This record gives sequence, structure tokens and C-alpha cells, in this order.
Amino acid sequence: MKKFTMPNTQIEAPNVVLGLMRIPDKTDDEIRDLVRTARDAGIDFVDHADIYGDDLHGCERRFAEAMHLTPAERDAITIQTKAGIVGNGPYFDFSYEHLIESVNGSLDALQTDHIDILLLHRPDALVEPEEVARAFDELEAAGKVRSFGVSNHTPRQIDLLKRFVRQPIVANQVQFSITHAPIVTQGVAANMLDEQQSVTLDGGGIVDYCRLHDITLQAWSPFQAGFFTGVFLGSPEYPKLNAVIDRLAAQYDVPPIAVATAWITRHPAQMQVVLGTTSPDRVAGAALGSDLPLTRPEWYELFRAAGHLVP
Ligand SMILES: NC(=O)c1ccc[n+]([C@@H]2O[C@H](COP(=O)([O-])OP(=O)(O)OC[C@H]3O[C@@H](n4cnc5c(N)ncnc54)[C@H](OP(=O)(O)O)[C@@H]3O)[C@@H](O)[C@H]2O)c1
Repeated sequence: MKKFTMPNTQIEAPNVVLGLMRIPDKTDDEIRDLVRTARDAGIDFVDHADIYGDDLHGCERRFAEAMHLTPAERDAITIQTKAGIVGNGPYFDFSYEHLIESVNGSLDALQTDHIDILLLHRPDALVEPEEVARAFDELEAAGKVRSFGVSNHTPRQIDLLKRFVRQPIVANQVQFSITHAPIVTQGVAANMLDEQQSVTLDGGGIVDYCRLHDITLQAWSPFQAGFFTGVFLGSPEYPKLNAVIDRLAAQYDVPPIAVATAWITRHPAQMQVVLGTTSPDRVAGAALGSDLPLTRPEWYELFRAAGHLVP
């Protein structure tokens, strides 16, 4: 497993991490098996959110109940969670009160005294960055949160936060897979009048902005074809893409999921792949993509096979 020091943190992070959004109905044994398989593969970084699960903090609670981490085991894992979405609306809330309440709820559910990284989950149109700054300062001073980041944020939204927030923004978690890739495909076909791919869907240069500002990009839904539309791996809707994935998988002697993972880890922005599978076998397979050195021609062949334009 390839590891790197996350800029502006003390965290030695793997470039493939375990998302736990889909565990609410899993048994304790299934959760333990999933996390153990991930740990064996070098994945010691988990991604949560307050809203994951049927109830508020449901997945965080299931994780803690199943794992019963000792203090040493807790310290050996990076726990990231998110705040800012109110599920029963839905709407977004970056107010001081909401952020403090959410983090206290996460600490309680996770049975821990600190969160390693807190992400603001989705941009709040009514954000008042001074309030976010007050919440971050208080959470940091109390030792409740060590590092802060965002998710689904545009460069300008991050700039607005940074005008008031003192702590570095260390991560931006965004949707990214071979098939759902506007954050990289747009730049390849910029300024072409008749191409949908030229349309800026990310507020302008998320990837370049994050690289320039040492913000680690994290790719959520790395195998979903679109917005929770099912995976492209093995899908009859993507025959060309799967043919290339399968050929490369055979060539590198890895499962296809490793090639789909490697397409993301190969990007020099040093992104983290946020796995969502609850299958230990798939986690082990994806982990093999952590350090798979796809060549430039191979990376672009996958890009083209997914239907993206190389002008
Ligand atoms: N920041 C955000 O806004 C945001 C939004 C969504 C998700 N997330 C995070 O990102 C993580 C990943 O999201 P995701 O679950 O949508 O991503 P994903 O890894 O692309 O999709 C995983 C889902 O696809 C299913 N699947 C079916 N066939 C599969 C195959 N061949 N290979 C892999 N998976 C297959 C999995 O089922 P099995 O479990 O049966 O394998 C699982 O339900 C979440 O856990 C969460 O932590 C963040």
C-alpha cells in the first residue's frame, strides 16, 4: 500500500481508504471482517459522516460497537468524518451550533475523544465563514478535531472559507471515477465550442487548485458510473471500457477493480480512493491498485474507452 504524509498533517495516509457509508445493516462480524481485511492490506484510514446510516450517526455507531477499539487500536487508525448535511430536509448547515453539535454526536457515536479529520460535507449556500472559523477554533482548542477539510467544494468556496478559517484545509473529497470524471476531463478539452466535455462543472479547476494548495483530493464513488447509478465494472453499458480494464487486469495479474483504482491513484495529484464496497474480497482487490504503475498510454486508453474526448 502506497503511503504519503498528508500535507499539513502528521498523518501517514494510504492512498486507498475505507468508506463506511454502506455498513448500517452489516453484522458486527461482517464489519470486523471488512475492517480487518482493509488493515491487512495497509488501509488504516476510514471515512464516515454523521448522516451515514438509517439514523443520525448510525454508521459511526455501528463501526464503534463492532470494533470495540482499544486506545492503541484507535490511535493506529485515522478516523475522518463529515458534518454539514441535515438529512431530514435535506439542507445544509454550516452554522457554529450545528457543527459543534454534529462533532459532539460523532465523538459519542465513535466512542473516541478526537476526530482526525473533519470535512464540511457539501457546500452550504448560506455559509458564514466567520461561524465556521469559530467552530473550527473551538473544536481544535478542545482537542476534539485535529485537522479540517471540505468535500464537494469549488476553489472559490474554499477561498471564501480560508478568508476566515485559520487551520489549513487538508482535503477535498469529490466524486471521481473513470466514467464520472469532469474534474479531469474538462481540462483536457477546454475551450471547444461544441463539446459538452468543455463545460466547467466544478467551479473551475478543482484538481489544479488542490494541487497548488496542498489539499489532498479524495475520490468518492470510485466505481460508480454516475451519481449512485451502479458500478461500471462488468456493466454491459460499458463494453469498451470493460474490455480495456479486463485486458490490463490480465496483463498486470490483478482483478479489474485494481485497474479502476489505479486509474485514480496513477494521477500525480496523489489522490485517495474512498472505497464504498462492503465486500472484503473487493477491498483486497482494490488495494492492489494502490501502486499499480499504469503507463501514460494505458491511462489515456482507459480515459478514451470511458467515452471521454482526447481532442
Ligand atoms: N463526500 C461525499 O459527498 C460522498 C458521497 C458518497 C460517498 N462518499 C464516501 O465514498 C465512499 C464510497 O462511495 P460509494 O459506495 O458510492 O463507492 P463505490 O465504491 O464506487 O461503490 C460501492 C458500491 O457498489 C457496489 N458494487 C457492486 N459491484 C461492485 C464491484 N464490482 N466493485 C465494487 N463495488 C461494487 C458495492 O456493493 P458491495 O458492498 O456488495 O461490494 C457498493 O454498494 C462511501 O462509503 C463514503 O465514505 C462520500
